[in-house]
This record gives sequence, structure tokens and C-alpha cells, in this order.
Amino acid sequence: MKICPKVEDIRSTIRAYHAAGETVGLVTTMGALHEGHLTLMRHAREDHDRVVATIFVNPTQFGEVADLAHYPSDDARDIDLLRAEGIDALFLPEVQVIYPPGDETIVETTQLAHMLHGKVRPGHFRGVATVVARLFNICQADAAYFGEKDYQQLQVIRRMTRDLHIPIEIHGVPTVREADGLAMSSRNQRLCAEDRAAAVILSQSLDTAETLVAQGTTIEALGAAIRTRIKSEPRATLRAVDIVAAETLAPVSGPVTEKIAIMLSAEFGSVLLLDQREISP
Ligand code: PAF
Repeated sequence: MKICPKVEDIRSTIRAYHAAGETVGLVTTMGALHEGHLTLMRHAREDHDRVVATIFVNPTQFGEVADLAHYPSDDARDIDLLRAEGIDALFLPEVQVIYPPGDETIVETTQLAHMLHGKVRPGHFRGVATVVARLFNICQADAAYFGEKDYQQLQVIRRMTRDLHIPIEIHGVPTVREADGLAMSSRNQRLCAEDRAAAVILSQSLDTAETLVAQGTTIEALGAAIRTRIKSEPRATLRAVDIVAAETLAPVSGPVTEKIAIMLSAEFGSVLLLDQREISP
């Protein structure tokens, strides 16, 4: 695996793949790799001759300095995992490579960034859109793969890519879960044993939601049932239950008549966890 710390290194590597007639799938990460990331890479591998990964803990998408400082990071372990996965090249830049001194350009989806989780985490989706636009522009891959777990992030990236006419296909990949249903996330490593056990309430409440939709229910009753279920877990501090139209994230009400997305966030100790599910009536 070729490790590229500089823009010129990764650009020339990918240019050489393209010159050889090969296609390139990209998986952007903030490191602390887990099965969820490796699943994205396997999807990229199925579709493309070459798979390129990026590891960059993006400071502009963290609201609180403490959250950034606690973000788990172990490049040596991640590099071993990527090698074992057969990844062709890794872009591993320092902060000043992505954000050069004097940097002043941001990318923002002006609607999608401010709704739902964007209200709880001001500036987060602007940071994501800005870094992903830069990574796309640096790498110039053919396609990129993102987990559906970060549902709003996926919609922000789709909209940003479309609006800026960036020539890359965006693929959403279903959430990978632990055996008990907890969505895989690098943040799970920061949960104490009790919070780790309690965090399963998120996926369990989505299972309840799926049953209720199958039985026929309203958005209001669904929201109330999910809130009650999560609040029944004393270690969970519920942050948001958002039920919206899938893809547009527009508000919905009344009987469930179209595909919806349920987006949950709750804190366990100081760790904010997200989960989501698309459900069709
Ligand atoms: O989902 C992530 O890991 C990050 O938000 C991303 C897309 C790599 C941007 O920093």
C-alpha cells in the first residue's frame, strides 16, 4: 500500500491508475477503523480496480475541542488493517496540508446543514462538506462510499457533490452492526462497559419503530413511542428523535404513507451516539 502524506503524492498515484485504464473507489475516514469502514472498502473493491482510503481527523467538524482531543487515533493499527484489506493507496495528510495557512474557503449546504443534527452540532456539517469537497478535489476518484448510519451526512455530501458538479458517484452503504444491534462507530470505544450495554436501546427503539410502522401508525405516535423507549434507559440522555422524509429530510406528519428516515441521537456518559433507519410503510 502506497502511503501518501502530500497532495501531489496521492494525485499522481491516482492519475497513474486512471492512465492505466483503472477505476478508483474512495473511502474517506477519520481513522479508528472498524468493521463499518472495512465494509465500505469491500463495496469499493467490488466496483473498482483500485481502492484508495483517506485518514484525516478533520478539526473543522468538531464543535468542542474536548471532543476532538478525545477522538481515538492509532495510525499504525489503521495502516495494518488497510494493508490486510488490500487497499492500494492511503492519503494521510497533516492538518496544514488540508487547511493551508491563510485558508479561508468553506463549503456549506445552506439548508441541510442547519436542520436536525445540524441544530445540535452547529458548524458540524459545514466542516464535513468543506473537508469532503477538498478530499474529492485532491483525490479525483470515480466513486466514494459512505455509511448510511450518518444519514444526514450522506445527504449533505450528495447535495454538495451535485451542486458543485463534482464528477464522482456517491454510494450509501447500509449500517454495519455489532451482534446485539449497536451501530458500529469509532465512538463506541469510548463507552464504559455499562454505557456500552445501555447503548443498544437505540437500535432496539428502531426495531420497535419498524414494528409500529408495519402495524400502521402516525408520525406523532411513532415519535412518542421511540422517546418513551429511549427514556426507559436511565443511562441514555436523549438528544433528538427526528422523523423525516427519506432523502429530502423534509418534515412529515400524520399517517406514515411514504418512506421515512428516523434519526436518533443520545448521549451515554459524554459520548454522543447516532443511529438511523429508513422505513417504508
Ligand atoms: O464520516 C466520517 O468519518 C467523516 O465525517 C468524514 C466523511 C471522513 C469527513 O471527515
